[in-house]
Order: sequence, then structure tokens, then C-alpha cells
Amino acid sequence: MYGPHAVQSRAVLPLDGIQSALNPHGPDAALIAEMSWVLFAGGAVIFLGVMALAAYAVFARRDRAARLSPRVLIVGGGVVFPMVTLFALLVYSLARAGALHPVEADALRIEVVGEQWWWRVRYLDADGGSDFATANEIRVPVGRPVELLLRSADVIHSFWVPVLAGKLDMIPGRTNRLRVRADRPGRFRGQCAEYCGGPHAAMALAVVAEEPAAYESWAAGQRRPAQRGNALFAAHCASCHAVRGTPAAGALGPDLTHVGSRLTIGAGLLPNNAGALAGWIASNQHLKPGNLMPAFQDFSGDELRALADYLENLK
Ligand code: CUA
Repeated sequence: MYGPHAVQSRAVLPLDGIQSALNPHGPDAALIAEMSWVLFAGGAVIFLGVMALAAYAVFARRDRAARLSPRVLIVGGGVVFPMVTLFALLVYSLARAGALHPVEADALRIEVVGEQWWWRVRYLDADGGSDFATANEIRVPVGRPVELLLRSADVIHSFWVPVLAGKLDMIPGRTNRLRVRADRPGRFRGQCAEYCGGPHAAMALAVVAEEPAAYESWAAGQRRPAQRGNALFAAHCASCHAVRGTPAAGALGPDLTHVGSRLTIGAGLLPNNAGALAGWIASNQHLKPGNLMPAFQDFSGDELRALADYLENLK
């Protein structure tokens, strides 16, 4: 499963803990880990019992060996014992597996489409329409149930994030549903677990579990079009400021071509970050009274953030 590519991407993705089904971070994965250990323990006890009988058969003296009648050994050890133990383990597995996939009404729904050789990720709104899209990375709020709708665009892939849930195939023409919930924040690695052609081993994904407030602010940012800050700048700022390589060519105020790389803004007044940029745009007359830039107090919070993001990224 781990080719050289996978080893490489393991190093690239910043992760918490190892990618292992025995390192669970959610209730579904915890259940799978528990069942693995119980079945392993059951198998280990039977193995030790069989080995003890074998040792007894080899090493016991003849007259003592005769005390165990063949009937007891064959009927008891060969029929009754395996039937009872295997039946007990079967009942346990069926009962515990029934606890998987509880139906949750308020689940966050995310469609994940396996493609050669990446993951298309669409967050769905309450009506099942597309809220926003991303790729190769799934962010989820801690504690909230998430329903993943798994599809494929080409061949069979397999969605596997072992610290959160079991493996589930992505099959062309059908939708498989996987419910997961992250119990605590972290970054987890996932991997396509079904050979899907050439660089299958390099088809990894990251799941980032965040506190609900951090998740909501990330989601709000994802909904904003990337070009919004750019468009706002062109409409409101370009007559005074230049950004070389764009139509903005105003010469009244500072050239802002690589403003994101400068140490301060407002001539040594504020540190250079998105918050300070937004504050400067809205309240510069309060921060530096009398300066020649008007205060832009009519921008909404969202617009200010978009504009500040745009400027901060001019590096
Ligand atoms: Cu996709 Cu293997």
C-alpha cells in the first residue's frame, strides 16, 4: 500500500498521530478498534488452548493421557468448543456492528468524488445543493456527525481515513454513504485503498477536524469568491493606488504592488496583517487623523475581510 510516493506525501501532510485503525479519533473508528482487539483476544485464547492441548499430547505420559477419553476430546474440543466460541464472537460482532452508522438528522453532508488521482470535495447545503467546493482536504467540525456521500468519476477507488472510520469503496454509478464524527481536533491522513491505476499510492487526503467556531469561519471564507477582494479593490481603490500587472494604476497614494511583503502599514503605524489592513481601510481617519485617504466605513465585514485578504496576499 505504501509506495515511495505515499512515503513522500506522508512527510508533506502535517499530521497528528499515525494513519492507523488502532489510533481512533472518532466513535466509528473506536468501535472498529474495539472489535479488532476483542476478536484478536478471542483468537489468541483459542490459539493458546490448542497449543496447550498439543503440548499435553506430545509430552504427557501415556497412562495419564488415557484419562482424557477420545470422545471428550473429539466432541468437546472439536464440536462443542468451536461452536460455542465462534457463535459468541459472531453474536458480539453483529451486535456491535449494528451500533455503526447511527442515523443523525443534523449531519453535515459532504460529497467526495474519487477521480484519477485526486479527491473532489463538495460541501452540500440543507437542500442538497452545492454550498462550496474544495479538493483533497476535508474540514469537519469536532463533535458534529458528518455524512460523506462517496462517488467515483472513473474507476473504483476506496475512501479510507482509518482514525475516523472503516474503509468504503467509491464505485462508478452509485453513492455509498459513510457517517463519521471526529471527537477531538486534529489533522488526519487518509489514503485511496483500492488500486486505481498508475499513481494510486499518491492519492492521499487530509481530514482536518476543528472546533465548530473555527470550522464556521473557514466555511464562510470558502464561500467567498476568490476574486471578490480584487473586484472591490478595482472599484474603490484603483483611482488612488497602483497594483502593477492589474488595471489599478492610481498614483495619489502608495503603490501597493507587493504591499503584503512590507513590514508595516500607514508609515510605521500598524503591523502588516489582514486585521490591521481591514482596520486601516475602515478607520484610518481615527488611527491617523488628517491623512489624505478617506475612511471607507460602508464596507460590510465580509467585504473588508475580502479586501484585506487580497492585499495581504500581494506578496
Ligand atoms: Cu484512487 Cu486508488
